[in-house]
Amino acid sequence: MKHLLTAAMPRDEAIALLDLAEDMHQIQDRELKKLPALRGRTVVNLFFEDSTRTRSSFEIAGKWLSADVINVSGKGSSASKGESLRDTGLTIAAMGVDGVVVRSGASGAPALLADWIGKPVINAGDGTHDHPTQALLDAFALRRRIHGRAARGKGLDGVRIAIVGDIAHSRVARSNALLLPALGAEVTLVGPAAFLPVPAADGTRLGLRAETSLDAVIGERPDALMLLRVQLERQAGKVAPSVGEYITGWSLTDERLARLGDAAIMHPGPMNRGLELSSRAADGDASTVLAQVTAGVSVRMAVLYSLLASDHATDQRSADHRPADHRPANDGGLR
Ligand code: NCD
Repeated sequence: MKHLLTAAMPRDEAIALLDLAEDMHQIQDRELKKLPALRGRTVVNLFFEDSTRTRSSFEIAGKWLSADVINVSGKGSSASKGESLRDTGLTIAAMGVDGVVVRSGASGAPALLADWIGKPVINAGDGTHDHPTQALLDAFALRRRIHGRAARGKGLDGVRIAIVGDIAHSRVARSNALLLPALGAEVTLVGPAAFLPVPAADGTRLGLRAETSLDAVIGERPDALMLLRVQLERQAGKVAPSVGEYITGWSLTDERLARLGDAAIMHPGPMNRGLELSSRAADGDASTVLAQVTAGVSVRMAVLYSLLASDHATDQRSADHRPADHRPANDGGLR
């Protein structure tokens, strides 16, 4: 793997990344959160769109691996003076950076950048297209909730997940629609017709079963409900259904929560409380919202390590091939 542009990947690759993230996750319990793996490497976070958790968790991940991390945001950069993505990318690459994490409102921008700059590129969300590290962290958090500390090596076989909301405009939904079934999960897309992707000839949407009734899907007692933010900024002023209709039909209200049993309640953030879900749903025991954020650091450490640690990048992404002193589990690797 030279870049991480999409969540479309074979099962064994996904599991290897999740297992590596399990190794990285152990750093959360340490007082001294520093591994030497990327010492001397420089990573640029190039963010043309707003972000709280994705940008800061990539920054934390890079720093915990001892990389130098520089944040460049669209607003304060020469992009706001009309510089093209290609020129911005080539400029950053010319400074000798080792990898670029990019978020852009333009679907496909990270793939173009990867062609142009000849350095590892990580897609941190592109338009309505893909957000691979989000899908990986969602899978990580869910796998941990189901399998606990015995999660290593496992997929999500037979786990029934409903992705609810604005699927059509959501790169998180698209990435999860690619990754979760590859891990063996049974995914159903749920939302108002206007928020569901265009059906394929076989009636599936993104290759998956789609339903409009959240109540019917809750009646099936899924193992997890993944709620998505209503992407008002991507709807060009046309919002259908109305906010009131959305809450009536698709919000995880306290009443629906009571019917859901102990299903995991997931949300990539940022949440609109009272719209996608109630505060009780967001803050209750079944909520994985903050566990997903924590998982984001571990997954991004795993991805940065896979792409940028030279001894690893040249050596396939296999936990067995990692030198012992790079393993977070090993105190000797901590500096
Ligand atoms: C998502 C994004 O930006 O794609 N957030 C995230 O990365 N955690 C989802 C969203 O904006 O709704």
